Amino acid sequence: MTDAYAVIGHPVEHSRSPDIHALFARQTGQDISYVRRAAPVDGFEASADAFFAAGGAGLNVTLPFKQAAFEWADALTPRARAAGAVNTLMADAGQILGDNTDGAGLVADLTQRLALPLAGRQVLILGAGGAVRGVVPNLLAAGVARVTIANRTLSKADAIAAACQDSGEVAACSLDTAPFDADLVINAISSGLAGDMPDVDARILARAGAVYDMLYADTATPFLRWAAAQGVTGRDGFGMLVEQAAESFALWRGVRPDTAVVLSALRGS
Ligand code: ATR
Repeated sequence: MTDAYAVIGHPVEHSRSPDIHALFARQTGQDISYVRRAAPVDGFEASADAFFAAGGAGLNVTLPFKQAAFEWADALTPRARAAGAVNTLMADAGQILGDNTDGAGLVADLTQRLALPLAGRQVLILGAGGAVRGVVPNLLAAGVARVTIANRTLSKADAIAAACQDSGEVAACSLDTAPFDADLVINAISSGLAGDMPDVDARILARAGAVYDMLYADTATPFLRWAAAQGVTGRDGFGMLVEQAAESFALWRGVRPDTAVVLSALRGS
């Protein structure tokens, strides 16, 4: 029997997840279907209920439902609890298990594709949206010495730092007091695709060996262009998207796909 999976979001039309999972399934010989599932902004629970009631095997959860999925799941993995958000749901012995594979996806992409070991490094994250809380514990678990979260709204950076305190050394500051000693600067400011980079002091890149943009686009993102103009290169978040998908696929199917092949098939990178 073909097991049914979907990505649920609002909007969800431009999600690349069905393409990614189709390639994973072909590569590993798994018999699955994987579609986009649009839910109304206030309709996550009803849509997820209906999906699993009809025999669905698992869901990926994208914006704006990651918090709702966290509340809705019957049980949570430790990394979902640490993230305070769920991006993967799975029918598991009569219960729905909630997991979060975003942080593992980021660390896998950084480890495999940036020539910059994470152990002992200072990492600066620009932005403090939902995506950030999900990745900080994984960066610290990968050996990062300190994560500093710089955000326009300081209280949001403070809240994430406080929530992640048990995972290691996490500091918060406003964008205009971001430190200049980071080895790696990660962008998570979501205005970054539509418009220009916010006005950030270029000295935050003074010691950076690399940058990473959690956003991705068909062409270089404004943050990557800005960093390149200061002489610092990096990668965008498409690799993270493929890696978090691989983590979900491994949870669901018990087999781990080869992400490098899929990345180059989808993007030629
Ligand atoms: P997500 O959960 O997807 O990360 P989000 O919660 O909307 O999305 O967060 C977007 C991030 O981009 C926030 O850190 C936001 O800063 P605020 O917390 O101060 O709102 C940041 N951001 C968006 N537009 C920005 C801009 N023009 N200048 C600086 N930061 C911006």
